[in-house]
Amino acid sequence: TPLPRRISTDFLIIGGGIAGYQTAINLLPLGSVTLVSRGSIASGSSYYAQGGLALPWGFNREAVESHVADTLRAGAGFCDEANVRVLIEGAEEAFATLVSLGVPFDRDSGGDFLLTREAAHSRPRIIHAGGDKTGSLIVKTLAQNVHGHERFTFLTPFRLHRLLKGEGSRIVGGLFMGEDEDGWVSIRAGATILATGGFSALFARTTNPPSQVGDATAVASMAGARLERLAFTQFHPTVLDLPGQTPFLLTEALRGEGGHIIDQTGQRILFRYHPDGELAPRDVVSRALWLEARERPEAKIYLSVAHLSGEYLRTRFPQVFFHCLEAGIDLSRDPAPIRPAAHFQMGGVRTDMEGRTDLSGLYAVGEVASTRVHGANRLASNSLLEALVMGHRVAQAIAGERESLLDSLPESGAEEPPSEGWQAPRGEGSLSLEDLKTLLWEKAGIVRTASLVSAGKAQILSALASGKTGEILPQDALLHNALNLARLLFEDLETAPRVGANYFIEDQTVEKAGAVPGPDSGS
Ligand code: SIN
Repeated sequence: TPLPRRISTDFLIIGGGIAGYQTAINLLPLGSVTLVSRGSIASGSSYYAQGGLALPWGFNREAVESHVADTLRAGAGFCDEANVRVLIEGAEEAFATLVSLGVPFDRDSGGDFLLTREAAHSRPRIIHAGGDKTGSLIVKTLAQNVHGHERFTFLTPFRLHRLLKGEGSRIVGGLFMGEDEDGWVSIRAGATILATGGFSALFARTTNPPSQVGDATAVASMAGARLERLAFTQFHPTVLDLPGQTPFLLTEALRGEGGHIIDQTGQRILFRYHPDGELAPRDVVSRALWLEARERPEAKIYLSVAHLSGEYLRTRFPQVFFHCLEAGIDLSRDPAPIRPAAHFQMGGVRTDMEGRTDLSGLYAVGEVASTRVHGANRLASNSLLEALVMGHRVAQAIAGERESLLDSLPESGAEEPPSEGWQAPRGEGSLSLEDLKTLLWEKAGIVRTASLVSAGKAQILSALASGKTGEILPQDALLHNALNLARLLFEDLETAPRVGANYFIEDQTVEKAGAVPGPDSGS
């Protein structure tokens, strides 16, 4: 293997979504920034965020308290209240910055910002851009504001293979592999910031793009960073379910603006499960759809907005409207078939509210981090808020530690690519990445049982054990990282509190009704 190209930078950011670019904007005044990404901005989850950005609109005490209360309620008792307050109190500054950078948030003809509502919000407080293109318009605007800056370097497509360690476990950068499996880059940095997103694409049915399999989360864990709350996966209820087609998110704002969830007879089904009906918290709605599929396997479940005008739907939800139209569904007339899909990870690399992990020199921001602000079920549109507020806060923390981070960068060992080590097993006991995704969907999905969890864990342990051990070979790194992360998720499932998104039922209940509904449409 040829020796890696070597680069030195003050700050290394891994991940090119909203969290990564927001951190870059805030770090550029302090020094040089190198941002490494797996691909274009469309390869990460930020680009696909539709609904919007939740804000304590009005920004007074009462508005903050109401937003905090809704976040705590949706979080099913597992939010860290002090951290939630820090998050919501940071919203005004984050919003003002986005407006000044030029994010084209939607406004009415008088110039006032348009606010929408989503499930579990007690009032409209979500701003949006391009109707349902909020994530892509925010990330594009942030990127435009850093590309071309003289201190900014962008490297793509590379993925993290290993974190570089200096004395006393301090992280001093990373070793990256070109996505085409040749071409290595070793980057030494005073501070390394993970902004790599979550790992919902480890589940067979997901709203996330395929790169979101959590390999950087697994790499951080191998370097000694503490992970937590991996069992808290959020499943989004309204995801288009058409045979043979990639699942496509139908934003929760459709329900916030009056959409109904109905069966094939036109009956609204959710009031049987929660007094708030379509506006019940996301985990409640996803579970209700799972229970419907189990109790009435013949029933078909749809999201219907046909009572709203076609003109309104086209302008307010252009992305969703035209995607559905191409798939043969005219939302102004037809209901859209839906089934839940893995959407967001509340847990991840444990950090404080300044993005510090347990390892000095290593920080994490956005979905990759576990700040405990989302509890066991994230409130809709709080994720973009977290990426923005924390991208700002981590840079402030790094500014305070700048001298010690930059002036005393120790030598690192192990900058060389590996030449031998763990190889993916072949034959009995082996699992491909696709097998693993199906396993996670079926055994760690919307509803969990003790026996599904122990069977899933046993399969993963056996796949890991049948590989050759040692340093991980580059071509097998993705699978190894995925197996390792899945192992940690199953270990967490064995002991995690059984609330919110981490929902367990008795084995017999599932056995009686047959298998958990599978990843393929109609199974
Ligand atoms: C959506 O638009 O439904 C997704 C918003 C979110 O995940 O908070």
